[in-house]
Amino acid sequence: MEEVGVSSRVVFSTRGVTKVYAMGEMEIHALRGVDLDLYAGELSVMLGASGSGKSTLLNILGGLDSATDGRVMYGDQNLVRASDRVLTAFRRDHVGFVFQFYNLISSLTARENVSIVTEISRNPMTPEEALAMVGLEERMDHFPSQLSGGEQQRVAIARAIAKRPDVLLCDEPTGALDSKTGVRVLEALEHVNRELGTTTVVITHNAVIGEMAERVIQLSDGQVASVHVNQRRAAPGELHW
Ligand SMILES: Nc1ncnc2c1ncn2[C@@H]1O[C@H](COP(=O)(O)OP(=O)(O)O)[C@@H](O)[C@H]1O
Ligand SMILES: [Mg+2]
Repeated sequence: MEEVGVSSRVVFSTRGVTKVYAMGEMEIHALRGVDLDLYAGELSVMLGASGSGKSTLLNILGGLDSATDGRVMYGDQNLVRASDRVLTAFRRDHVGFVFQFYNLISSLTARENVSIVTEISRNPMTPEEALAMVGLEERMDHFPSQLSGGEQQRVAIARAIAKRPDVLLCDEPTGALDSKTGVRVLEALEHVNRELGTTTVVITHNAVIGEMAERVIQLSDGQVASVHVNQRRAAPGELHW
């Protein structure tokens, strides 16, 4: 097989993606024709004002929601109008999610929260490996209430990556954190991206975070307003907000 440069392989390709929510008599056009390519192994940051359609797009990419119209290709698979069964299998086999709120089970330790996923995955890492990858090897037997917000988010990242997903989708992962702990979370995401080569998308409304990305996608009013490739990426530790 011909060698293809890692950074040139398109993982997601969307064309003309629309999403219309029906609210009684009203129609809300959350996405108005999104054309976007995401590349294997890249860390992208998606910026945009509140209501610009970031979460809607991320949920569609991850198979949590479906587009109204258009094309969402994951490799050669079109996710638009895929059956629920197909989308469930897609999520299970390929996608890890991280959300603003960590959704950890409070009665389980960090290790146990991660093992919930590793027990049902095909080729998982161990909970210990996943937690070490986010710098929590010393905190494995702590309960969520014994961890800071940033540490809890890193447990959530460990849980999301333990199944070795191809794609990691993060919706405002630092939204509830102060800048110092937010930076630690971003460092964990960057480390995972580098070590595992997981194609990663990080949504934020904090433009500073764009400086750590390879690709910065600006969403505006349900469309991609611009895509910028950073010539130099900042380390998360250099970011201040
Ligand atoms: N489930 C829903 N039902 C109706 N409207 C929705 C729903 N989810 C999002 N919206 C609307 O779609 C638009 C885009 O929302 P969203 O994708 O959450 O934006 P962002 O994540 O950029 O803040 C907003 O106008 C929002 O109110
Ligand atoms: Mg959102």
